[in-house]
Amino acid sequence: MKIAIVTGGSNGIGKATALELGKRGINVILTYNSYKDRAEAVVKEIEKNKGVRAFALKLDLTRISTFDGFVLDVKKSLQDIWNRTTFDYLVNNGGVGGPMMFTEMSEEYFDKILNTNYKGPIFLTQQIVGFMEDAGAIVNTTSSSKNQSFPGYSVYGSLKAAFSTWTRYIAKELAPRQIRVNAVSPGPTHSNFGDGVFDKHPEFIKPLAEQSVFGRIGQPEDMAKVIVSLLSDDFGWVTAQDIEVSGGHLL
Ligand SMILES: NC(=O)c1ccc[n+]([C@@H]2O[C@H](COP(=O)([O-])OP(=O)(O)OC[C@H]3O[C@@H](n4cnc5c(N)ncnc54)[C@H](OP(=O)(O)O)[C@@H]3O)[C@@H](O)[C@H]2O)c1
Repeated sequence: MKIAIVTGGSNGIGKATALELGKRGINVILTYNSYKDRAEAVVKEIEKNKGVRAFALKLDLTRISTFDGFVLDVKKSLQDIWNRTTFDYLVNNGGVGGPMMFTEMSEEYFDKILNTNYKGPIFLTQQIVGFMEDAGAIVNTTSSSKNQSFPGYSVYGSLKAAFSTWTRYIAKELAPRQIRVNAVSPGPTHSNFGDGVFDKHPEFIKPLAEQSVFGRIGQPEDMAKVIVSLLSDDFGWVTAQDIEVSGGHLL
């Protein structure tokens, strides 16, 4: 049975991805940053699928110095739960957003966006890909904002663009091991993003929904299905791609 690691599995797209993996019989190690309780609830939900096991671990992508400890925790769970030393799939999904106009931007904001969405996932992947099975698969979560220019998202959008480009480079470097590396670019999605901005401000949804040809914003499950499909053998001949999953946002 396959094992996937999903970062940011306590909420939104990562949670939906972890649940979808479970439904398809894939075991999951999911990570949380602030919401341990939500991550534990996801674990329970996944384990309702017969024979599927899940485990939640704390991971703060901004604290690279803690990755050694995280790797030890992952290796221990692999051994204790599945009697394995390797895993099969990685979903680099954990991330943060939130607008800040360039003219007012602080270094603290810049570093938070950089470390969570770009530097953290890169060094995490570096540390764990060594014990990923050959012919495994990685999916990175980028963003449709990488091709747009909404005021306030200059750093977020440009770092997601960098993450997308990194996907292509890494796809080539890992190809000798038959590992595929792809990305999805979500459009606006009703997750817990921005500390639950869509729940706190439902009025933000309508204008974004009107920008999609289907008249709604995305749900985490819309992203999860594509992420899990990209991991699967159905996409065995696809690598280095970044697929926009936005219901035709701004088409
Ligand atoms: N929602 C959108 O409209 C949208 C659009 C384009 C791209 N995306 C991307 O989709 C990905 C998932 O976001 P989402 O929409 O599902 O948002 P979300 O519901 O807020 O989920 C974000 C996840 O990332 C985790 N996370 C936050 N800070 C972290 C850190 N420092 N270290 C490790 N994990 C951290 C969160 O953990 P805790 O909740 O436990 O803190 C949570 O599980 C992100 O990469 C985001 O940039 C989202």
